[in-house]
Amino acid sequence: MIKVAIIIGSTRPGRNGEAVAHWVGDLAAKRGDAEFELVDLKDFDLPLLDEVMPASMGRYDLPHTRTWAAKIDSFDAYVFVTPEYNHSTSGALKNALDFLYSEWNNKAAGFVGYGVNGGARAVEHLRLMMGELQIADVRAQVTLSLLTDFENYSVFSPAAQQENAVGAMLDQVIAWGGALRTLRSHALSRG
Ligand SMILES: Cc1cc2nc3c(=O)[nH]c(=O)nc-3n(C[C@H](O)[C@H](O)[C@H](O)COP(=O)(O)O)c2cc1C
Repeated sequence: MIKVAIIIGSTRPGRNGEAVAHWVGDLAAKRGDAEFELVDLKDFDLPLLDEVMPASMGRYDLPHTRTWAAKIDSFDAYVFVTPEYNHSTSGALKNALDFLYSEWNNKAAGFVGYGVNGGARAVEHLRLMMGELQIADVRAQVTLSLLTDFENYSVFSPAAQQENAVGAMLDQVIAWGGALRTLRSHALSRG
């Protein structure tokens, strides 16, 4: 079975992202077709990018980069749970993406966005980054509205149909995650 990380893209005190990610994790855990793990950026306490070399050069000098790299390398696919800040994703998630390169390559990703317009603009920005990181992003995405899927913008109370949206997104992430694992193993066996 493939391993999928559900990455909490917000580190703010009082963040809505934690409840959203746990809801995705609980729905995912009911499936039997992949393993899922919540990955909280807060636990990695990454500083603003402080490596000398760009990640694509493959040299990580600092212990926090190596710890983050080992965690991300252990997955076949990712679900990015992203807030929308100023029409983009969080600085924390952008920074965490920038820290690594090969660990992201030839993996699959799906998105759960939340904001006034379902975090749609944050997800569009993330999609632009995916190509450069060689992550294959699936079409289906979850768009949670602060107006209708939260009470008072802060108590997460998703509309019933959002569960179907999570299911459709995970179906695609798992299918592509499996296909890309095959691709990676062929690449390795060719040396
Ligand atoms: C700095 C900042 C900028 C924001 N900009 C937007 C925005 O452009 N569009 C939007 O829909 N919501 C915006 N919001 C509202 C957030 O979507 C909302 O606060 C959400 O709960 C943030 O996720 P978090 O609680 O997990 O940090 C912004 C919030 C912050 C803190």
